[in-house]
Amino acid sequence: MARSAILNVMVQAAMKAGRSLARDFGEVQNLQVSLKGPGDYVSQADRRAEEIVYAELKRARPDYSFLMEERGEIEGSDSQHRWLVDPLDGTTNFLHGIPMFAVSIALERQGQIVAGVIYNPAMDELYTAERGGGAFLNDRRLRVAARAKLQDAVIGTGVPHLGRGHHGNYLLELRNVMGETAGIRRLGSAALDLAYVAAGRFDGFWEDALSPWDIAAGMLLIREAGGFLSDKNGGQDIFGTKSIVAGNEAIHSALLKVLKKPVKPA
Ligand code: IPD
Ligand code: CA
Ligand code: CA
Ligand code: CA
Repeated sequence: MARSAILNVMVQAAMKAGRSLARDFGEVQNLQVSLKGPGDYVSQADRRAEEIVYAELKRARPDYSFLMEERGEIEGSDSQHRWLVDPLDGTTNFLHGIPMFAVSIALERQGQIVAGVIYNPAMDELYTAERGGGAFLNDRRLRVAARAKLQDAVIGTGVPHLGRGHHGNYLLELRNVMGETAGIRRLGSAALDLAYVAAGRFDGFWEDALSPWDIAAGMLLIREAGGFLSDKNGGQDIFGTKSIVAGNEAIHSALLKVLKKPVKPA
């Protein structure tokens, strides 16, 4: 598998930040933690990892723009290129000692995602994708799962929590999906959820209220692994609607249908 120079930069940045996260994970009880809003935590580990990613990417491409979860938007003189960075996806897991978290970095060129990297340091799993070049887990080429029936499918999702306002709708959706699928999983990291769809571990995934840094790299992984993606209306306004539905062609369309299904009384 030949990686382009820019993908190599992204891999180096993600792995360096991942090593910092792994060190902090070992002494998580000593980290400073603050609250950004109800149920929304940020720690020293998030900020340290973000600094590392920022420094590495900035050194390689000084002019590119950034959208990072903690530092927000940073305009570069090149607005055609933008890095989308989640330095620690799965902060709640991390702070609870659950080793399911990742660094996620994507590169957008003229609004199109062209490269993506997701690194889970606890499992040393590195997911990479380049537009037109396929998706990989470490050195292995990825393909979405082939299961075509919802009744055989394991579906990932994100469960809203304190501070997220769509609890009622979510429960109705969950009830419909759980009645038609073989299993539902909640990992607590949207980046890894999407990587798991690309790797064929999950047959499908849906979630609301996600931000571009959570999903940009994972979206490219899924596309490059032959998967299908849309917002919950079946359109392509995933960043705008903040909703995402993913799977192979059959599961994606079946899941969309179930999510749209009129809600049955309990
Ligand atoms: C969160 C995770 C989680 C998802 C939340 C995200 P963070 O990101 O991706 O799985 O359900 O909506 O905010 O805050 O841990 O980077
Ligand atoms: Ca966060
Ligand atoms: Ca995130
Ligand atoms: Ca984060």
